[in-house]
Amino acid sequence: MPRLVLGNFVKFGVIMKKYEFISKDFPHFLHGGDYNPEQWLDTPEIIEEDVRLMKEANCNEMTVGIFSWAAIEKEEGVFDFSWLDLVIERIYENGGRVVLATPSGSRPMWMAEKYPEVMRANFRGERDEFGERHNHCRTSPIYREKVRIINEKLSERYGRHPAVVAWHLSNEYNTGLCLCDNCKKAFRVWLREKYGDIDAVNRAWWTSFWSHTYTSFESVNPPHDGAGESRLHGLNLDWKRFNSDMAVDFARAEAEAIRKYSSIPITTNFMGNYEGFDHYKMAEVLDVVSNDFYPRWHGNVDGMARSTAQIGALLRGLKGGRPFMVMESAPGTNLGGMGFAKLKSEREQFFEAMLYVATGADTVQYFQWRKSRGGWEKFHGAVVDHYGRSDTRIFRSISAVGEALGKLDGVLGMGIKSDVAIIRDYENLWAIDGKCIQTVVKSPLSAAHYDIYDGYFKAAWERGISADVIGFNEDFSKYKVICLSVPYLMNESKAEKIKRFVFEGGTLITTFLTAVADDTDLCYLGGVPGAALSSLFGLRAEEVDDYHGIDTTSKPRLANSVVYKGKSYGVAGIAECIIADGASTLAHFTGNIQKDMPAVLCNDYGKGRAYYIGYQPDNKFLADFMGDVFSELEISAESSVKPLSDGIRTLVREGDGEKYAFVFNTSEECGRVELSAEYTELLSGKRLSSEQTLDALSVLVLKIS
Ligand code: GAL
Repeated sequence: MPRLVLGNFVKFGVIMKKYEFISKDFPHFLHGGDYNPEQWLDTPEIIEEDVRLMKEANCNEMTVGIFSWAAIEKEEGVFDFSWLDLVIERIYENGGRVVLATPSGSRPMWMAEKYPEVMRANFRGERDEFGERHNHCRTSPIYREKVRIINEKLSERYGRHPAVVAWHLSNEYNTGLCLCDNCKKAFRVWLREKYGDIDAVNRAWWTSFWSHTYTSFESVNPPHDGAGESRLHGLNLDWKRFNSDMAVDFARAEAEAIRKYSSIPITTNFMGNYEGFDHYKMAEVLDVVSNDFYPRWHGNVDGMARSTAQIGALLRGLKGGRPFMVMESAPGTNLGGMGFAKLKSEREQFFEAMLYVATGADTVQYFQWRKSRGGWEKFHGAVVDHYGRSDTRIFRSISAVGEALGKLDGVLGMGIKSDVAIIRDYENLWAIDGKCIQTVVKSPLSAAHYDIYDGYFKAAWERGISADVIGFNEDFSKYKVICLSVPYLMNESKAEKIKRFVFEGGTLITTFLTAVADDTDLCYLGGVPGAALSSLFGLRAEEVDDYHGIDTTSKPRLANSVVYKGKSYGVAGIAECIIADGASTLAHFTGNIQKDMPAVLCNDYGKGRAYYIGYQPDNKFLADFMGDVFSELEISAESSVKPLSDGIRTLVREGDGEKYAFVFNTSEECGRVELSAEYTELLSGKRLSSEQTLDALSVLVLKIS
């Protein structure tokens, strides 16, 4: 093993600051969720009962207005806010707060009938009929204008109302597919702005291949699988960028309308690992990010907790570490599905809520407050069932969460400190999906990317080490280790940033297919890794082999393995043929064309070190290898809580010198921990020290400083 390298990390040891609260006038966890009173306007007694029940459920927030456009603007230009006035007033009188939504996720029928252009179109230009939701055309000038008008009216009326603590833009923005003339025109304008002239487009997309040279911007159409172009990688990638930009631009226009009269925080609800738009760009429009969490409780709890924590890491990383909102989660049934699904026990519901808080949430909100009588989601989990009263299991479990959150105000605004970061790069994700890289099947590279991305996180998680997920725009110097997974698309400024990070003392880990292509998916000439990264890694990857992935049609004839520190590990798919040029070999292949070639390499560069994993590793290798890197860099778990049994996970939130440890027992068996001193457990109010027992699926919240 090469010499030990410790970086020069000026920021280490700096005390983390507490982040801004979501509402400075209401320094409590928001606990509530989607409420759709517009469904109950002809039964005002139900709305009254809801207001009463909210308090009983220990809920202090309702998210209102998400799908209420038809109830507010019944006819074009005729607005009725009277019911909304009443609902907001009643919630406030009862001590609650409101997150107010803009209604653009679903439009009234009169609009689609009068202005069909608000609906999306297929590649033949045929418009969708009215129906469904989240399916408007994002470039339609009429839709944008109608959204501006209603957003301004909402903001003018409620933007300074003391009940309203945040804005919720639309609902789950997605990029969908619209191929209408407005979108085509907007795409051509976008291309013209980016490239200037059509020859530059031809060069960037390498259209001389198959004689696909464009003669003008007007001849460029979006890619689609119907009948037309779908095999120009540069076009596919730019179309994804364009759609992402349109989603962000749409949100920005919504936010600008709101900002005219209101200065409270603006958010929109994300969908975890959804890749449709660049979340880093979307986050620039927002003050705080929020997410809809629907973890599956069907399987392994530790795995579920890990993927929830991983989404939490992604969300924090979108706003420089700032806590996020859990805009939706399910009371009871745990699928977003509309039928019947596995119920959550009271213990599971509680565990889930505490997990959100432990991973950086400053709210716990649900979809939904009350079950609708009809419509697609009438059986979806809700705090209030069709039964309508509070003596139900779910109601009680939500009240228990609310009661606990009331004891955790001190945790609000606390961040999470990590020495490890995993990079998420949306442009790279788009480049390695099924439409890019020469393959007609779903690209195995996406799957490989996620396996490794998750493998890095898992290796940290299982050692009790916190990892962040960050974009290329983040300050790298906060971290000791930065991990990349299949960073196929790499421009020179990103390459420069990772080089500087290592040069100044950081440790970088990357994988096969690093820096193969530039921003328009043109391959680098002169060897891989490109983008002038060969000196960082001290190697050249000459060919790419695949053992299980790309050729999914036939059974693999051959297998290969890798030896690292005398132990053998499987090759899960791709394996490169690597020629070392300065790097030292840490692991080598044992068979086939790669026999004895380096599989994992490391190269000292400046004050830091770069590792290159030249094949698709299994989690066993990643766990062992990352463990070595962590110990080399002295990255370790929180020391105040020592796990004495399997499945204990401790997550820490801290800020301004205060520190809270959330200790979860993710196992179905009783667990044990050893505390390094005496601490207050906030949920029970008890002082705890030395060895403690945790019931299955239970949590302790300790104030450790
Ligand atoms: C979300 C959506 C909600 C509701 C929920 C059901 O994706 O934002 O409106 O449909 O799923 O799980």
